[in-house]
Amino acid sequence: MPPKRTRSARIYRDTPRNLARLAAALRRGELVAVPTETVYGLAANALDAVACGKIFTAKGRPASDPLIVHIGHWRELAAVAVPNDAALRLAQEFWPGPLTIVLPKRPAVPGIVSAGLDSVAVRLPSHPLFRRLQRLAGIPLAAPSANPFGYVSPTTAQHVRDGLGKQIAHILDGGPTTIGLESTIVDLRDPRHPRLLRPGAVTRAQLAQALGCAVADGTKRKTVEHAAQLAPGMLSRHYSPRTPVELHAPLAPVRARLSGPDEAWLFFAQPRDVAGKNIFALSEHGDLRAAAKRLFGILRQLDDAGYTRIHAELAPGGGLADAINDRLRRAASRR
Ligand code: TXA
Ligand code: MG
Repeated sequence: MPPKRTRSARIYRDTPRNLARLAAALRRGELVAVPTETVYGLAANALDAVACGKIFTAKGRPASDPLIVHIGHWRELAAVAVPNDAALRLAQEFWPGPLTIVLPKRPAVPGIVSAGLDSVAVRLPSHPLFRRLQRLAGIPLAAPSANPFGYVSPTTAQHVRDGLGKQIAHILDGGPTTIGLESTIVDLRDPRHPRLLRPGAVTRAQLAQALGCAVADGTKRKTVEHAAQLAPGMLSRHYSPRTPVELHAPLAPVRARLSGPDEAWLFFAQPRDVAGKNIFALSEHGDLRAAAKRLFGILRQLDDAGYTRIHAELAPGGGLADAINDRLRRAASRR
């Protein structure tokens, strides 16, 4: 177990003084939970192995699960990774934004960040507050999602405090995150064979269009060993609430009315014909962006409410629906 602090983490509002304080804390090697447009991250100086070690301790994260390095400008990419033309094309198209690119690693990035791999995952977030903090700190920031290992990612500062309040001291509040799902991860170590490692708001079709070639779906795991080699940490015991989650095909004739009030039903869009205290919807009218933004918050809410089971309807279609359904499947995967 990570060491517990006696006081709970402080949530800092967005003021120039607070940002200066938190930037100094990062430069000193301390951890700061930060908002991004996808989910909140737990940040440390990516070039400081000791600081990054604290991330693993605070999260209870195995050393085999590598971290994403966040940069402040695409020109900083070459300091941490070895870019290729394909990576630069994607950076131009989707950065700043919810896309992480895996490339060969530069020696400046300590091995603890990449879990000993010779590759590194890099992202340039668009969240204005994150970018201001990073500019003040002047360093690349290693940051996984700011949740205890294995639990649902945080989309508000309060979610971070609920999960890590006793393990960390500083949380910067940037409001609820706008996207709500972790970034898309694409492996571009071999630029001729791009491979999607984690679906997100940037879709596989968008990547293929920007690159002008097919992008393999690396999320279709054949074996556990195979998956672990491709994207360590992407094994399915991830993003899971404590409550068992059961999935239903889109528009399946679910018998919500027949199950007891101790089971929750999470529809993709607000159903017209069923109602009740245990009936919930990911979005009012079936809008994918709204559903993605809401997903993790509602899973936490249902988990805390004490239901014995959460029934969840998969999102229809591809694109962002693939990312939502990936997270729902992880939530439903048995430990
Ligand atoms: O949206 C996001 O990506 C958020 C925010 C904070 O940026 N971060 C995030 O980090 O979701 P995390 O640690 O929860 O997920 C990072 C995943 C790892 O579990 C691993 O699967 C993959 O990124 N990864 C990191 N480095 C890699 C590498 N060198 N090769 C393959 N996969 C890697
Ligand atoms: Mg995570």
